[in-house]
Amino acid sequence: MSYQGKFRVWRGDDSGGALEDFTVEVNEGEVVLDIIHRLQATQAPDLAVRWNCKAGKCGSCSAEINGRPRLLCMTRMSTFTEGETITVTPMRTFPIIRDLVTDVSFNYTKAREVPSFAPPKDLAPGEYRMQQVDVERSQEFRKCIECFLCQNTCHVVRDHEENKEAFSGPRFLMRVAELEMHPLDTADRVDQAQEEHGLGLCNITKCCSEVCPEHIHITDNALIPMKERVADRKYDPIVWLGNKLFKR
Ligand code: SF4
Ligand code: F3S
Ligand code: FES
Repeated sequence: MSYQGKFRVWRGDDSGGALEDFTVEVNEGEVVLDIIHRLQATQAPDLAVRWNCKAGKCGSCSAEINGRPRLLCMTRMSTFTEGETITVTPMRTFPIIRDLVTDVSFNYTKAREVPSFAPPKDLAPGEYRMQQVDVERSQEFRKCIECFLCQNTCHVVRDHEENKEAFSGPRFLMRVAELEMHPLDTADRVDQAQEEHGLGLCNITKCCSEVCPEHIHITDNALIPMKERVADRKYDPIVWLGNKLFKR
């Protein structure tokens, strides 16, 4: 079963652009990325799109479909009706390179700002030991495919370019939380989260968690626990001292 689907795709570059209408064949079982590829093959050979795995694992094909941040390769055409026009636009929070491709280097800058894992100096790698419960806690965060859809969605930077300097975004605050919850990490991640990564700007809207293709509970399991640790330290001097002495 195939039909002629109506698509509206953003074409342009950093100097400007516009939505263009196309009619493209749609076949049973296809995803939006299949349509974009058919569009390239038949009508718009210079259409720029970033993709790699077509399996929801490389995080490359992030874009917005009908205004919703999605992976192009994981959005089934069967979720739309045959008569509807499907609009595909690049992620809004990052600068445009061309067509559906954005410059996501903001995220790599933020990644570099998170100091790496800091185990005790006197512990050799073969001597690392941790409880299963601690392993499981960070395993959820490790499912991240770095699609940056959460970074694209969070209103703190999506609507406020000026916050980009101060705010690392949910993906990297989650990385800070993962390290903070690691029993062998000795760095002071609580103050870092608040003062250097802008945790205070997050007002727990949970939009990041809603768009995560890996269904990571970014807000509930990473951001809120970090906020609690910040609050504990601020308002409870005994907890603060305890954290210093018996870091967990
Ligand atoms: Fe993508 Fe989820 Fe990772 Fe954010 S946390 S970059 S939405 S996989
Ligand atoms: Fe942004 Fe997620 Fe917080 S969307 S405001 S980082 S809960
Ligand atoms: Fe790899 Fe879509 S192409 S996640």
